[in-house]
Amino acid sequence: MAVVDGTWWQIILQALWLMLPAYLANMAPVFVGGGAPIDGGRIWKDGNPILGPGKTWRGLLLAPLVAAVLVIVLDWIARAGYLDGVGVVSFGGPAIAFVFGYILGLGALVGDAVKSFFKRRRDRERGAPWPPFDQLDFVVGTLVFGHVFALLMWPVLGENWMLVRWGGWHYAVVFLLTPGLHFLVNVLGYMIGKKEVPW
Ligand code: CTP
Ligand code: MG
Repeated sequence: MAVVDGTWWQIILQALWLMLPAYLANMAPVFVGGGAPIDGGRIWKDGNPILGPGKTWRGLLLAPLVAAVLVIVLDWIARAGYLDGVGVVSFGGPAIAFVFGYILGLGALVGDAVKSFFKRRRDRERGAPWPPFDQLDFVVGTLVFGHVFALLMWPVLGENWMLVRWGGWHYAVVFLLTPGLHFLVNVLGYMIGKKEVPW
């Protein structure tokens, strides 16, 4: 499946390469979010909010822009050849990098909002811990959006971008490393006063 492979550290770097936009998009809402909630403050039939006040339109639509800008930078780094030894790949120029980055970021935020829907159904309030779903919701969203986008772009790019770049080990790396990274980042966010709880 994957033509990009290599030693274990190359696989870790390749996996993180594609997940960096998701990590950034997932962190961005505490800075760019707020304002009108996606659910309009409406209540589900179980008496809990549909998504809750922590899921806002600004977070959903602006956070992916941060990912898009990051992917333009990653694409540039790869095309400049700085990381040739690592086996990471360019996204194919700034325009496609921007669109792909936005889609990856949007996937992260949609995954996060879908998680919140089910979290509210399980009577967990905004910000309450719900492991491992809080840690992996955005990863699943990014992977789903990335795969669908790569499939749609296949005729244009001449290859299925995700399938060519990713094999089973990349998924294993992402699902094993993300909860730990997520925890570290949230502790940091808590320390700088941007998160109310350290998870
Ligand atoms: N945020 C936002 N819009 C989004 C997602 C997040 O404005 N679509 C902001 C909110 O201020 C939120 C913060 O980022 O409180 C942290 O995001 P997250 O941890 O995903 O939300 P929680 O508050 O923990 O809510 P939930 O319990 O629903 O996950
Ligand atoms: Mg949370």
